[in-house]
Amino acid sequence: RKPVTINTLQNLYRKDEPITMITAHDFPSAHVADHAGMDMILVGDSLAMVALGMEDTSEVLLDEMLLHCRSVARATKAAFTVGDLPMGSYEVAPEQALESAIRIIKEGRVKSVKLEGGREMAPTIAKITSAGIPVLAHIGLTPQRQNALGGFRVQGKNTSAALKLLDDALAVQEAGAFGVVLEAVPAEVASLVTKKLAIPTIGIGAGNGCSGQVLVQVDMSGSFPPGRFLPKFVKKYGDVWTESMNAITSYRTEVKSRAYPAQEHTYPMAMSKEEFSEL
Ligand code: KIV
Ligand code: NA
Repeated sequence: RKPVTINTLQNLYRKDEPITMITAHDFPSAHVADHAGMDMILVGDSLAMVALGMEDTSEVLLDEMLLHCRSVARATKAAFTVGDLPMGSYEVAPEQALESAIRIIKEGRVKSVKLEGGREMAPTIAKITSAGIPVLAHIGLTPQRQNALGGFRVQGKNTSAALKLLDDALAVQEAGAFGVVLEAVPAEVASLVTKKLAIPTIGIGAGNGCSGQVLVQVDMSGSFPPGRFLPKFVKKYGDVWTESMNAITSYRTEVKSRAYPAQEHTYPMAMSKEEFSEL
């Protein structure tokens, strides 16, 4: 497969072919996503919860994101990689954001960065893109701002909120973002925003009218125990948790019963019985 570049993404957008994006947080999760033919792989700061067990994304540090970016970059041969700028690494000033973005590229080895925010982030997006670093914007439900939003709530529901979303989308486009993630937005509103823009929209909980879709891999592959809450927009395409549970349970049972390791899992000696008896 030929490496996906910013031009490939432009071509998909022009052809109206949906852009496929998924998160990965380490070598194996990126490896499988790349092999599955995903156009884009996002090292999302959702890894704070799904890979590090933190309460929310506000806890994960830039240095921690860099380690995850690097492991994802090593596994990714074709997909276009995006690294999330974590909370605290870009809000202070455009210069701070550029410094963090440069670290994501140089040390994290991914191809682009993502940050949360709309019109208020336009100067920051302009600053980062002026250094030749592609920026993916993220508007609608922005989890890093959950305390200000009053939790994980659908955004852009009423007229003024929809107009604000559209204004944010136009502002990040104007600032030079190569695309924009729309999270938790009514499908009709996301479609409208998509039609008004000249850059791709990547939806998550934003309906079928976006230019592409993104999901968190741990969610869509079912790599979590039964009973965990899932947002309405997640479709569980697999049951990796049950698959792993079955494998580990069988292993445990076979170790206890000495069924494992069997003859075929052991190495032969290179000595005669006589030599062995002399040991
Ligand atoms: O961190 C993340 O996984 C994300 C996607 C859900 C868009 O930002
Ligand atoms: Na994120």
